[in-house]
Amino acid sequence: MPQLAARIGRAKPSAIMVIADKAKRMKAEGRDIISFSIGVPNFLPGPHVYAAVRDWLDKDSGQYGSNRGDNRLLDAFIAHMAASGLPGYSREQCAVTIGAKHGLYNLFEALLDEGDEIAFPTPYWTSYVDIAEIVGARIRLLPCPPEQNYKLTPEQLDAALAAKPKVFLFNNPSNPTGMVYTAEEIAALADVLAKYPDTWIIADDIYNRMVFDGIGYHNVAAFRPELRERMIYCDSLSKTYGMPGWRVGLLAGPKEVIAAVVTLNSNHITNIPEVVTAAAIAALEGPQDVPTGKAREFQDKRDIVIAALTAIPGVVCPVPQGAFYAFPDISCAFGKHHQGRLITDDVELCAALLDSKGVACVPGSAFGEPRALRISYTCPSAQLEPGLTRIQEFFAELT
Ligand SMILES: Cc1ncc(COP(=O)(O)O)c(C=O)c1O
Repeated sequence: MPQLAARIGRAKPSAIMVIADKAKRMKAEGRDIISFSIGVPNFLPGPHVYAAVRDWLDKDSGQYGSNRGDNRLLDAFIAHMAASGLPGYSREQCAVTIGAKHGLYNLFEALLDEGDEIAFPTPYWTSYVDIAEIVGARIRLLPCPPEQNYKLTPEQLDAALAAKPKVFLFNNPSNPTGMVYTAEEIAALADVLAKYPDTWIIADDIYNRMVFDGIGYHNVAAFRPELRERMIYCDSLSKTYGMPGWRVGLLAGPKEVIAAVVTLNSNHITNIPEVVTAAAIAALEGPQDVPTGKAREFQDKRDIVIAALTAIPGVVCPVPQGAFYAFPDISCAFGKHHQGRLITDDVELCAALLDSKGVACVPGSAFGEPRALRISYTCPSAQLEPGLTRIQEFFAELT
């Protein structure tokens, strides 16, 4: 048989999907499973989004659309960014993609030749590594352990940028940790970024509307506007509007980079579907009560999760202030036994937790931090506390 391309040998299936699929199989076999695994928002968009789709049915052009994205959607995104503290973008500086994942894939292709370096903090969202490996980039990881609240320090950033990576990728609020940088922290990182003009910056800030405790969302370019010349801001409707399956990603950045993304779009997707465009405009321009209400609900759920986790002796969990994840350090369990099974590491712990208690979490090693596991807490409230109780029981049973 002829050979596959070498890059395919570097592509891995998502570790999150592996555990989610096992949980699904167990559920289908009749097991009582509570899933804290996939990062889905678990709510639907507001009724105005569906109304816009119904209206669109009478207006469908049936044609190919723009490779950049529909002008009304670009304008809605520009207004949305202005409301998030990033005013003044033009259509030429924006593009629409099939989800932020596709936007990031396009950016990696547009900015990184084989062997170029990309730097980003650990813990990281799994796809950063997977996509970087497919495009053949070298990865420089910046370890941000629980002892430093999973946050990157200006000193660490300075040391990493001194090595002149082609791209620095920053995710705030963070998946998997839920950490959100304060205005002061972002300002300090912006000062360091301003010192290194040869590095592109990707700001993957898709959870920017899901922040708690009044901490607010802050972007480095708000403190150092000159960073806009080399920063690409990445947004998505998936999490904020409960629309992960609709696949809408949004990018804003320098015209040249966005033009490259539009060229890539023209060669793989052509355009996002017209019906999805109608839904996306309605989500961005319509009432914002669904995302606002959900951010409040997730903050309440965060409190329940943190209270349960901190009650477990030995488990340490920096308090998340955004997104819908908690990322406790569970390494106190390593070397102990659960019902005779040796807990060697995070992968074994997640497997034992799923097998014995029917609770699915994702091992931290999928995100580059093998001392932790990720809990995605968007499940219905009726499942949240029972799931947490089962985790507490699991730890209490360790010998
Ligand atoms: C940090 C981060 N970036 C990007 C994405 C991709 O989002 P989308 O559904 O828009 O492709 C995710 C999805 O989980 C994410 O957590």
